Amino acid sequence: MKGLVEEIQRRKTFAIISHPDAGKTTLTEKLLLYGGQIQMAGSVKARRNQQKATSDWMELEKQRGISVTSTVLQFEYEGYVLNLLDTPGHNDFSADTYRTLTAADSAVMLIDNAKGVETQTKKLFAVCRQRGIPIFTFINKMDHPGIGPLPLLTEVEDVLGIRSVPVNWPIGQGDEFRGVLDRHTRQVHLFEKTAHGATKAATTVLDLDDPELITLLGEKLYDQLQEDIELLDIAGEELDMDRVLRGELTPVFFGSAITNFGVEPFLKRFLQMAPGPTPRPTDKGEMATDAPFSGFVFKIQANMDPNHRDRIAFMRIVSGKFEKDMDAVHTRTGKKLRLSRPQRLFAQSRETVEEAYAGDIIGLSNVGAFLLGDTLVAEGKQVFNEVPHFMAETFVLLRSLDIGRLKHFEKGVSQLCEEGLVDLYWDKRSQSRDPILGAVGRLQFDVVQFRLEVEYGVRTVAEPLSFEIFRWIEGDWDSVKGVYWAQYGRPVEDDHGNLGVLLQNERSMNFLLANNKGLTFLERRPGT
Ligand code: G4P
Repeated sequence: MKGLVEEIQRRKTFAIISHPDAGKTTLTEKLLLYGGQIQMAGSVKARRNQQKATSDWMELEKQRGISVTSTVLQFEYEGYVLNLLDTPGHNDFSADTYRTLTAADSAVMLIDNAKGVETQTKKLFAVCRQRGIPIFTFINKMDHPGIGPLPLLTEVEDVLGIRSVPVNWPIGQGDEFRGVLDRHTRQVHLFEKTAHGATKAATTVLDLDDPELITLLGEKLYDQLQEDIELLDIAGEELDMDRVLRGELTPVFFGSAITNFGVEPFLKRFLQMAPGPTPRPTDKGEMATDAPFSGFVFKIQANMDPNHRDRIAFMRIVSGKFEKDMDAVHTRTGKKLRLSRPQRLFAQSRETVEEAYAGDIIGLSNVGAFLLGDTLVAEGKQVFNEVPHFMAETFVLLRSLDIGRLKHFEKGVSQLCEEGLVDLYWDKRSQSRDPILGAVGRLQFDVVQFRLEVEYGVRTVAEPLSFEIFRWIEGDWDSVKGVYWAQYGRPVEDDHGNLGVLLQNERSMNFLLANNKGLTFLERRPGT
């Protein structure tokens, strides 16, 4: 039996961030393979036959080939408990991605050896930076001809502005990729080719000064390796773990997820280096990880599985031990809740969680009880402010094409809004009862429409509105009686009945403010 602190310390909760196609799905599969969770990783062919990676289950993802939702996968490896958060790869999902990263203690940044630092890598990196979490880099596709290790490291440093330190070093690339050197142990891991994805990589491990190495590598690769080592030893950064944990230095690994080369050496070292759960700030000081149970909801998802038709609130446990059926205070409402039917999700299969610890992520199915960002505590009234609200920048009027299914339409819209996918507004002055949706990116509307059709059986049409900004208004309808909005703005109510306004652009906003003394716009919902 492990004690509380020991259980917490063996948790590693992290996310893999990458530009689409860098190999995130493949690496996830391989980590699961080494974690003993799947027998055979989905090879390219298997994927074409619709056996998608286990973390990729939604209909829209299958159709579009993009990752829309974030998944949490939990598995054990060599005494560690890994909680792997899958971040959406598309740039329209930045809000969802940000929220997911609030649950992570570190990130693995995946870079394609041939493509280098790509747009989405930059965006996701910026989010990790903002959160100050340690970032580990895995340079993938070393079996493919590419930019090469040294220019890539320079690119990471120049483009992202973070110093890097190679933990292992590749020997050759493309067809000549033979293995990696672990710079700490000075051991060379040579890989043997096996059928793609079928088994774990077969490896021969030799000391760097083993005379056999030159025979195995050939003179050219051997000389290159010696030259690289010399250069790194002289000019490279020290592996300073304090700087890594502060997010100033990224440890770099090289490998090839598809052939499994370098995946296991990466996993072993990453788990030794990555931070476990750390204390998190609350409105009343820091919450230590060994304090009584606490956590916050960072994601809500409806209809995870069409067979279940329920809503799941994903909670990151910040402190202590969670036990099935325990009572906790829901600090937003002050109510005591029984946390029954907690679930651990593994793609489409679920199992009931009997207990979980700080660092873990569990799914709670208390329907309708939770909003994004809600805090739960076993004792006290602390509130985590980890999950920010992102202001919408694009708006549509959503109409149902299935008149007979109005109830389904309303339920669907309200549930999908609770997930935080889109914001919901109502034009109370208009005859129509059609909702106005706001999002950070347009793709979110496609997702809402798609899911309304598949999950609620309602076809819809989304009419773009020419607004770019939403602001709350201080006061009630009486306080805006004399305002002449014209085409500049449209007053609306948000889903909680707070007064706000959709504004055409920055200029319209300034015009309205200049011409209406006493009118005040707010970037936060009144009372938060
Ligand atoms: P993603 O989740 O980041 O979007 O990437 P994913 O794992 O789906 O990988 C994208 C493509 O890159 C896949 O090919 C995959 O097989 C390939 N890939 C992943 N890791 C490696 C690697 O280490 N080396 C090489 N050479 N390729 C890798 P695909 O989508 O099936 O495209 P295609 O191969 O059929 O053209």
